Amino acid sequence: MRTTALGTHGSEVGVIGLGAMGMSFAYDMATPRDEATSVSVIHQALELGVTLIDTADVYGPHTNERLVGRALTGRHDRAVIATKVGLEAIDPTGGPGGSPLVKPNGRPEHVRASIDASLRRLGTDHVDLYQLHRVDPEVPVEGTWGALAEAVAAGKARYLGLSEVSVEQIQRAQAVHPVATVQSEFSVWSRDVQAEVLPYCKQHGIGLLPYSPLGRGFLVCRFASFDELPRNDQRRRLPRFQQDNLRANLDIAAKVREVADRIDATPAQVALAWLIAQGPRVVPIPGTKTPKYLADNAGAANVELSPADLADLDAIPAPVGTRY
Ligand SMILES: NC(=O)c1ccc[n+]([C@@H]2O[C@H](COP(=O)([O-])OP(=O)(O)OC[C@H]3O[C@@H](n4cnc5c(N)ncnc54)[C@H](OP(=O)(O)O)[C@@H]3O)[C@@H](O)[C@H]2O)c1
Repeated sequence: MRTTALGTHGSEVGVIGLGAMGMSFAYDMATPRDEATSVSVIHQALELGVTLIDTADVYGPHTNERLVGRALTGRHDRAVIATKVGLEAIDPTGGPGGSPLVKPNGRPEHVRASIDASLRRLGTDHVDLYQLHRVDPEVPVEGTWGALAEAVAAGKARYLGLSEVSVEQIQRAQAVHPVATVQSEFSVWSRDVQAEVLPYCKQHGIGLLPYSPLGRGFLVCRFASFDELPRNDQRRRLPRFQQDNLRANLDIAAKVREVADRIDATPAQVALAWLIAQGPRVVPIPGTKTPKYLADNAGAANVELSPADLADLDAIPAPVGTRY
């Protein structure tokens, strides 16, 4: 697979990454997970050049890092491991649909304790990318980021990234330690970052990692109505997935499919190729626990969208309903 540098201050990675969250967390929690298949998906990713594997301590909580660690046993040198700190599960079942209830924790002492626990679960002595999951509104970002920078100084992390931040927050972090990457929701139906964050990242050599690049499955035409969402699933509480909104948004998925049919690609490949076209350091991290989807997503690296295809996708109207 083609590779790109994850920002001026980051590692070389395949242009498509893999989000591991859904292997343990967030979606369809009533269906038992097949861990062996998830492990094989991570192995398959490395074979295909999908080297960036994204996880977080709060996914599970903790079980997703353990799963990624098990999958990477003996393979750490082939992967670029990205994990996150800064969201804490305060009640294991108190969130929507019985999922963990989480809140930001950016206290430096929490960050210092968390990196060692993440490394133990991941079975490694360092991660390639250590990301701040959310800025804690009660803690100055400089303090939190300084604690992440200590992990770099101690050889426990190579590079640092932020998630869901404003340009002002990136600048405040940069004053303390270089920012290699910013992770934000970004897809044809979630384009907020195009206004300020993406231009700033391009100008400053910062990699952008679009999360939920397939619209949490919506853009690949997985759901035609609210009732098709699994019962124990975080998407059931998101505004865009509510019955009337979802129905109104079906035109968006139909447009992605129309472009895909025209160029003999899949909707997932079109959604990902549109993101890759947004800049040389834009590396989407689609989430999947399904071998055929992993292969499908990796194939997006070879899909070239023409100016007309890009224009059609750019013209897709804003969805009905906010992201959260
Ligand atoms: N920084 C943050 O705050 C944040 C927030 C959310 C997510 N993330 C990261 O971003 C990653 C991806 O986001 P996401 O999982 O929310 O959403 P996503 O990648 O947009 O969508 C995932 C959904 O799409 C399905 N899917 C994947 N590839 C497919 C294909 N080729 N064809 C059909 N369906 C396909 C998956 O199914 P299966 O799972 O059934 O295979 C899953 O239901 C996560 O794993 C996580 O690492 C970060």
